[in-house]
Amino acid sequence: MSKLSSSILITGVNSGIGYAVLKQFHAAGWFVIGTVRKPEDIDRLRLEFPERLYLLRFDITSPLAEHEELIRSVAEELKGEGLDILVHNAGVAQGGPLGWQDESDVRAIMETNVMGVFKLTKAAIPLMREAKSSRMLMISSISGRLVTPFLGAYSASKFALEAFTDAYRNELAPLGITVIGIQPGPTATSIWAKARAMKNKYLDSPYQEILSKQEKFIGNAEARALPVEHVADIIFQAGTRLKPKHRYLVVSNPLLVKLAAYFPDNLKDRLIMAKLKNEKKW
Ligand SMILES: NC(=O)c1ccc[n+]([C@@H]2O[C@H](COP(=O)([O-])OP(=O)(O)OC[C@H]3O[C@@H](n4cnc5c(N)ncnc54)[C@H](OP(=O)(O)O)[C@@H]3O)[C@@H](O)[C@H]2O)c1
Repeated sequence: MSKLSSSILITGVNSGIGYAVLKQFHAAGWFVIGTVRKPEDIDRLRLEFPERLYLLRFDITSPLAEHEELIRSVAEELKGEGLDILVHNAGVAQGGPLGWQDESDVRAIMETNVMGVFKLTKAAIPLMREAKSSRMLMISSISGRLVTPFLGAYSASKFALEAFTDAYRNELAPLGITVIGIQPGPTATSIWAKARAMKNKYLDSPYQEILSKQEKFIGNAEARALPVEHVADIIFQAGTRLKPKHRYLVVSNPLLVKLAAYFPDNLKDRLIMAKLKNEKKW
């Protein structure tokens, strides 16, 4: 890569938000390093972006030594230049009633959404410090602000990411690394198809009646989902604006979401139960 272009490392670029962010930065002339898990994704993306894209196969749940190996490959490709932006995008969102979810599913959510971010950050800090100033963008979620039933483990992972964001922001600022949180609401990506694939897993539980309506909930959320390009646009702004905000809440009704943080629990619970029983919007 020539230092005419700035560099960005994005995890999970084969679909959804990661792919849209790759497209946006690539179109703006950046050198993009992306991770994927499947070899066929490498072939497809290489054809689509023959230049300024370096792809690596990587599972974010790998041990720390493999994260360090990944960063060594990135450093070699950057030929002595530092990494300008790291986007922690890869994530999973299996839902389910917490008391019935498999331990392995909950561990997978935490290993991917929380420990994966911890290990990659630990490995990448030295390379980010080599850039004059760099940014780390944390793709969290509205679920990192508000907890809804059947998304407890996912929410816990995004609340943990929010705590990481606050800690890293203060700890890494003196080292020249600006840390920014991105909190998208429902966004039109393949995450919904993945949710559908899981929808019958907990029908044999006390929540059978509510969960049997899942197709409707998923359909409603999907119908109101933000276009992925809009979320990518906000992420681009967070990465490139001279004075970015600490956090970007990317939802169609930000005021309501911000106000909801101040609702007493019994009001929040009543609104959530009304929504679950009647599929009402609020
Ligand atoms: N869509 C939404 O409504 C929404 C809302 C708020 C926040 N988010 C967040 O946005 C991020 C991207 O999600 P998305 O909606 O774009 O969904 P997506 O299309 O399913 O993308 C998820 C990406 O993460 C990758 N990934 C999952 N597990 C991984 C692992 N162990 N190692 C490496 N990569 C892994 C996936 O790779 P594979 O394809 O190989 O599985 C895929 O590239 C996630 O952090 C999610 O929590 C999404």
